[in-house]
This record gives sequence, C-alpha cells and structure tokens, in this order.
Amino acid sequence: MTWHPFYVGDGTPRDVDLGEPPPWRRFPRQPLHREFQPPPGLIEAVNAALTLRRPLLLTGAPGSGKSTVIEQVAKELKLGTVLRWHITSRSTLADALYRYDALGRIHAQRLEGDRGSDDIAPFLRLGPLGTALLPAKRPRALLIDEIDKSDLDLPSDLLDVLERGEFEISELARYREDVVRIRESDGDARSQVVKGHVQCEAFPFIVMTSNGERDFPAAFLRRCIRFAMPMPTVTSLRRVVAAHLQINETQSGAIDTLITTFVERLAGGESLAVDQLLNAVHVLTSTQAPDEEDARHVLELILHRLSHA
Ligand SMILES: Nc1ncnc2c1ncn2[C@@H]1O[C@H](COP(=O)(O)OP(=O)(O)OP(=O)(O)O)[C@@H](O)[C@H]1O
Ligand SMILES: [Mg+2]
Repeated sequence: MTWHPFYVGDGTPRDVDLGEPPPWRRFPRQPLHREFQPPPGLIEAVNAALTLRRPLLLTGAPGSGKSTVIEQVAKELKLGTVLRWHITSRSTLADALYRYDALGRIHAQRLEGDRGSDDIAPFLRLGPLGTALLPAKRPRALLIDEIDKSDLDLPSDLLDVLERGEFEISELARYREDVVRIRESDGDARSQVVKGHVQCEAFPFIVMTSNGERDFPAAFLRRCIRFAMPMPTVTSLRRVVAAHLQINETQSGAIDTLITTFVERLAGGESLAVDQLLNAVHVLTSTQAPDEEDARHVLELILHRLSHA
C-alpha cells in the first residue's frame, strides 16, 4: 500500500498541505440542520411529540442520526440554541437542574468578611434541564443524549420533573432576597427566579437518545413518544451523501457501488454507521484520493464494523 499523501514515514521535515477537511470536521463546528435528511416516519414522530408536549425517545444504531434530529427541529421552529445534557453513569438529575458552589461561596465570604455583599447568585448556575424549564413563551430544545448510559434510577427521577415541569432551588427558598438572577447553562444570559421556584410555561421540546442497550420502566416509556431510526436504504443514503458532499458526475459510479455494498453489509447484520460511509466518500473524492489499488485498503480501514472490533 502506497497511499501517503502527508505522512511518509521517513522522519524528514517537509511543508505539507493537509487539504480541505471534510465539511463535518470544520471548527467551530457547523450545525447540520440543512444536511439532515429525516428518515421515513421521523417527521410524524416529531410532530406527535410537539403536539402532545411529550419527550421524543429515539433509539437506533450508532451513527443513525439520533443526536442530529433536534438541530433541524430547533432551527426550523426557531427554538433557539439546543441545550445539551450528555448522560454518563455519573449524571444526576440535581446537576442537570442547577449547581450550587457552596465551597466557592464560603471562600468568598472569608475573603470579603463584613465588607462583602454575600450575594448567592454568582455561585448558582442552571443546568441544561433547569434552563429548559425556565418560563418562556417559546419552548426551548433540550437533547438528553445517551440516556441508556445513565444510572438505573435516573429515568424515574426525571419522570417526576417532566410531569410537573417545575423544580425548587432549595438554597434560594430560604435566601434573604425573593428575586435572584441566575446564570443559564449556555452563555452568560441570566434569568430571574422568584423564591427559588422554577415553573415552565411552554413545555420544552425534548429529544432523548438511546442505543437500545437497555429497557426503560413502563412508566417512563408511557410518557414518551418512541421512534426507532430505520435501517438506511440505497435511496436514503444517496440523499444523505449528496446533502453533505459535492459529488461530480465522474465520481458518482464509484460512490453508488460504495453505497450498495454498504447497504448489503448492513442487511447482512454488520454494524456500520452513516458517518463511516461519509468518511469513505470524502476520501474517495478528495484531491488526495488513493488510486484504485490503495483505495481498497483505505476503505477497509474506514468501513470497519463497529462491533467485535
Ligand atoms: N439522515 C441523515 N441525514 C444526514 N446526515 C446523517 C443522517 N444520519 C446520520 N447522518 C450523519 O451521521 C453523523 C452521525 O450522526 P449522529 O451523531 O446524530 O448519530 P447518533 O445516532 O447520535 O450516533 P451515536 O449513537 O453514535 O451517538 C452525523 O454527523 C450526520 O452528519
Ligand atoms: Mg448520538
């Protein structure tokens, strides 16, 4: 294999032009609201969730676009920047509502002594869920990503907050001032909280994603609209590729072969993600594309199966 457009492996310093990155690896990251091609059935599921003011639970294979759906919905419906809560086994409901830096406040009180204002606001910050529940005329968009990675109790804890659309900031309930302006989770905006009580007006548009590794309690599922991202087809992948990359006539034959093979491998039960296909197409169509012999090896590198690695 002799594909070495940049790194050659001889240790000799040289000036190398790395070419244009794939559009989805430009920084700061560009939103994907125009590129996203909703699979059949998704539009209805989103509209059902919007109509019923219920969270949408998206399941499906890695790379099937679950985390990208909300960007398009938020853009189209002008719901503002998407609030993101990325779940790990350590995620707690309390952190997603707000954080209080008690230690920081004690330090500040010691430093300032009697001269200090003893203001609590700088030490409180709303989390993504807390920000989504702030009262506003337009709903916010909130992505609760990879909820299947959570601690077992989290979905049930979340249920209660989502049912009532409200929560308390206990540190403020007994604070000397009734009205406190608290920082939101994204940016420097501040919102007024009265007597430590936050109650939503317009229920946020919430998308929860799961790779389907886990069963959720029936009480949780009952309160969500569920949608399983379908397996991509040759037609849907052609549209996805065309949305992300400029393809010229001479390249389209090779790319169609790539797409057909990709769909056949999926049908054979292999785990492959749409973004692997996009990577493969980018390499084949870039100015540093490998020639035919090398292309086979490079594509094997990129299009490796995601399970049994
Ligand atoms: N229907 C689609 N239309 C356009 N692009 C898509 C589509 N599906 C996936 N993609 C592309 O694939 C990439 C991966 O999508 P995304 O991260 O949303 O997948 P995911 O289902 O959340 O995966 P994971 O389970 O690994 O988090 C995105 O960058 C997006 O560009
Ligand atoms: Mg995701």
